[in-house]
Amino acid sequence: MLTTAEACGRYARDESETVATLPDGVVIAKDADEIAAVLRVCAEHEVPVTPRGGGSGRTGGSVPVAGGIVLSMEGMRGIKELSREDLLIVVEPGVITGDLHALVEKEGLFYPPDPNSLGVCAIGGNVAENAGGPRAFKYGVTRDYVLGCEAVLMGGERIRAGKRTVKGVTGYDVTATLVGSEGTLGVFTEITLRLLPKPPEVRTLLALFSAVKGCGDATSQIVARGLTPRCLELMDEMALGALRANGAAVDPRAAALLLIEIDGDHDLDRDMERIGEACMDAGAIDVVVAQDAAQRDRLWAARRELSPAVRKLARKKLSEDVVVPRSKVTALLEACARIREREGLKMLAYGHAGDGNLHVNFFWDHEDELPRVDRAIEACFREVLALGGTLSGEHGIGVLKAPYLPLEQSPALIALQKRIKSAFDPQGLLNPGKIFPVAGKPHAAC
Ligand code: LAC
Ligand code: ZN
Repeated sequence: MLTTAEACGRYARDESETVATLPDGVVIAKDADEIAAVLRVCAEHEVPVTPRGGGSGRTGGSVPVAGGIVLSMEGMRGIKELSREDLLIVVEPGVITGDLHALVEKEGLFYPPDPNSLGVCAIGGNVAENAGGPRAFKYGVTRDYVLGCEAVLMGGERIRAGKRTVKGVTGYDVTATLVGSEGTLGVFTEITLRLLPKPPEVRTLLALFSAVKGCGDATSQIVARGLTPRCLELMDEMALGALRANGAAVDPRAAALLLIEIDGDHDLDRDMERIGEACMDAGAIDVVVAQDAAQRDRLWAARRELSPAVRKLARKKLSEDVVVPRSKVTALLEACARIREREGLKMLAYGHAGDGNLHVNFFWDHEDELPRVDRAIEACFREVLALGGTLSGEHGIGVLKAPYLPLEQSPALIALQKRIKSAFDPQGLLNPGKIFPVAGKPHAAC
């Protein structure tokens, strides 16, 4: 247990602008018994608990906002089982997602979800937030790979939910309720994940465009032609500018680009040709194929650096993760351009075009810009909902998006979710201040 001011400060932030209430202490648990002990003692003494994986979240999910205890999973990085026959792995929640990838891939297996922070994020946090990432277009998100889990509830009760079989419909799907519950219902102590055989071949290509609209049009063309790349990543002009400023060698002709990846054991050359044709029909300037693994790694390294790179564009930024039906990506980009002009703000967009999931980023340097940032974010959310979309595709609601939840969900649905919350945590001590709007807290950028 750490109690110094320095440690409490270090465990009170994530990758967002969420303002913390410093915890009184940080517990680094080493096993499920210790987690159960913390949740029992804290319930007894009415102390709030904020569970924490890698701290790479974007909405404040692991940031303590009511003091109390931060319960860190970094001491629980064990692999309990890897079964080739059953195609599954059983892990502790603190395992770093990138390490999990490396481990299973060495065995010829594959765990597709790959949040871009995979070098630092923990699988427990991925499951709590139902993390996505670039490969969701073909392979789905974290939820699609969680077969079962063991979790501890506030008060110390341990439950085992789910299964280790392909099928299983016994009772309510409690595992699915826990996945994406943002650490508000229980603390994972063990997670069973489904694996796939590793795809033998991967090809990566870049389509360059003179305007971002081409990226949206190409995405629609690719999907309409029945092609399923595993990644279809969009970057607009300002995002490319941030990458160039970060030292990446981005083709000077491009004002927007799509990073596309396909995999499988079929005729990938034929798929590449068809994707290239779809991009050219949508007005691409050029389509460039990565020649080898090193070039491919460089492209992905640049993409993974995008979020930290754009952070340097202003003193403050907020990165949203809105989703629209993928046919509406161009409409969303146009709406963002209108909002940017109307509010005179620095804004950019990049993200998972194949999923209709874009990271619209809002920047500001001075407090007096905040009302415009706030208006721009709300306008963006309203446009997204009008296009048939949703507020969060992969980062969760956390603290920052809580005031906006009622824009998307009815009072009845929010009330039902609050009743589920109290069934798991009647005292409201586990990760308080997340998901649900707090009365009196108006829309605010931070
Ligand atoms: C990304 C994170 C921010 O896609 O979701 O880079
Ligand atoms: Zn993302």
